Amino acid sequence: MCSIIGILSKDIVAPALVDSLKRMEYRGYDSVGIATLSTDNRISVRKGVGKVGQVNSLLNLAGMEGFVGIGHTRWATHGGVTEYNAHPHPCCNNNIAVVHNGIIENYLPLKEELVKKGHIFRSETDTEVIAHLLEEYYNIGRDIKHAMMETVNHLEGSYAFVAMFANGTLSCARLDEPLIIGISDNTYYASSDVLGFLQYTDQAIFLDNRDMAIIDRAGGVSIVNFSGEPVTRSITKVAWELADANKGEFAHYTIKEIFEQRTSVKAATYQDEHKIRAFCDSIVSASNILVTGSGSSYHTSLIVSMMGSRLLKKRFEPVMASEFQYNMDSIEKNTVILAISQSGETADVLSATKLAREAGAKILSIVNVQTSSLARTADVSLSIKSGPEIGVAATKSFTGQMSLAYAILDRISGGKIGFDREVISDKISKMLAQQESIERLVNITMPKVNDIYLLGRSIHFPIALEGALKMKELAYVHAEGIAAGELKHGPLALMDKNAVVFVLNPDDRTYSDMLSSAHQVKARGAKIIGISNVPNDIYDAMIEIPKIDNDLLYPLVEIIPLQLFSYYLALQNNANPDFPRNLAKSVTVR
Ligand code: AGP
Repeated sequence: MCSIIGILSKDIVAPALVDSLKRMEYRGYDSVGIATLSTDNRISVRKGVGKVGQVNSLLNLAGMEGFVGIGHTRWATHGGVTEYNAHPHPCCNNNIAVVHNGIIENYLPLKEELVKKGHIFRSETDTEVIAHLLEEYYNIGRDIKHAMMETVNHLEGSYAFVAMFANGTLSCARLDEPLIIGISDNTYYASSDVLGFLQYTDQAIFLDNRDMAIIDRAGGVSIVNFSGEPVTRSITKVAWELADANKGEFAHYTIKEIFEQRTSVKAATYQDEHKIRAFCDSIVSASNILVTGSGSSYHTSLIVSMMGSRLLKKRFEPVMASEFQYNMDSIEKNTVILAISQSGETADVLSATKLAREAGAKILSIVNVQTSSLARTADVSLSIKSGPEIGVAATKSFTGQMSLAYAILDRISGGKIGFDREVISDKISKMLAQQESIERLVNITMPKVNDIYLLGRSIHFPIALEGALKMKELAYVHAEGIAAGELKHGPLALMDKNAVVFVLNPDDRTYSDMLSSAHQVKARGAKIIGISNVPNDIYDAMIEIPKIDNDLLYPLVEIIPLQLFSYYLALQNNANPDFPRNLAKSVTVR
């Protein structure tokens, strides 16, 4: 996922472009670039490898002149992380420059055709074909709308792009990637994320799929569909507060968002009565429910499926979103798909729900971004209301998803969970209070550890997977979540004196079995860190969790120390927790 921004203003735009890119940098941070239009209508481009702050210091991006410009931070898909692959990409005569988020699937045949027509390409990216296509069609009639229509109707794949023309016009279009227009007094923004302009205005137009917008000083914003017909899109007030998108007194967004869980787990459970009733009714009337997501959201899917089956005696089936297309056979007349996604833009999830809808299923979604594609396309969508999650690692969104799921299943089951938002928030606060002891644990036990294993049974197994994912993506350490009962079927061979093993072992019905698993790995010399409410000599170290009446609620609490542990392990390994290498906040390409 990349971030794109275009600004047309009465003021110099470069400083605002840099500020916007910084706020959206979590979407991708391999390289950065800006193009602005000088007062004599020349397009200047400055771009480089690295993060916004680094490239700005080197190239003085914020010092560029001009009242219209575009900017981009890249998460590389096609073409290596190099300066020439960085966006913006100009066309041959430098009268058009483009920034793009998504993938142009048919870029190679398009590129071949354009090269035959004499176009000179300067990058390996798929994006650059957009600039040359626009140039090819604009040169025919000098008509921007026509050039845009011709271009988008030749593109296949997913895209949101903004083009800047030397006559001072911005144009943009979207297909399966988010694109939002921000409007303040005589200044217009075209952005992939509301965070690109929220510091300037909360008035936004969310473009629909197959919308194009042309923005110029005289006419303002005109929106048409890919056939060139005018469409009406309302201006909405963005719900998020910018304050949520600042680190405040925290060193990183990641640790800030870990601590926000005290309140975000409660926020998730306040829902519009009409919507939550429709949501619950859909589950009750379903013959079977497929629960899908990616990464952390898939781990939520596992927990929701276990709880739903146990509490409602219905068929809940977790399906990894990237595997969904191969596992659709159980979709029948009354199947409901519950799609879980923080961003609501994950390509695998959007693809899964599209296939499911075509197969006749009803789509429910749990998202954080209420204006996302998934939220807008689901039959009923609920938001976890966690506020912007900037850290690439899912933390508050993970517990927010679970918290909402608990509230839903508690409601349907007539209170079988006994979910109390205040009690859970209090228990999370108690876990967060162990921040310093967990940091010490990292520093004492983890110098240069290579392999970490996390053992869990039943509802703790998805937490073992989630804890392992945090350690991988934050600290770049190999970590593996293992269903403890499976140890003897192979993974036990990995255990030796170098192994560090977390044992998720609260005092519930898995307790005694987990102890025997702990003995199995201890006998092979492994170092054991227990996460439990009951001390035991088998543990070399223990992170204490509070006793919880209903076992089902332990996942909300036992993930907290694993998040904190992963964060401090990242710091110890000199990794940047907010911007893990090779990753992006939302994977909007497949
Ligand atoms: C989790 O820490 C990762 N950032 C990643 O696995 C993430 O959960 C996954 O990409 C799904 O994102 P989504 O919830 O926005 O769909």
